[in-house]
Amino acid sequence: MGGERTLLRQAARGVWILSPRRDISSWLARWFPKVPAKPVVAQKTPVKVELVAGKTYRWCVCGRSKKQPFCDGSHFFQRTGLSPLKFKAQETRMVALCSCKATQKPPYCDGTHRSEQVQKAELGSP
Ligand code: FES
Repeated sequence: MGGERTLLRQAARGVWILSPRRDISSWLARWFPKVPAKPVVAQKTPVKVELVAGKTYRWCVCGRSKKQPFCDGSHFFQRTGLSPLKFKAQETRMVALCSCKATQKPPYCDGTHRSEQVQKAELGSP
């Protein structure tokens, strides 16, 4: 009870003094969830891009990026617990990168976007 009063007094003054350990663990749980979110369908067709030999790319895994098929950091800011797939192009060539996020050969399109499950899904839903 006394602890609550102290907290209320501190809140009234605009001063918050909490245990540093509690702060860090709650912050980590909030920004790095233990159970990752499901990827969502960003688009129902692949995106053709020219990869440049030797260049490193970050393919969006979560489907929430506004720069499909590449990562824009949305996986972090939307607290998905997912990370982009980093890969290095071996040669300069045009490729079709998956945007439905259901491919079995990430980051490349394998035709899974033609499946009924992807075609019936709403954009932005798993
Ligand atoms: S766009 Fe995902 S498999 Fe083709």
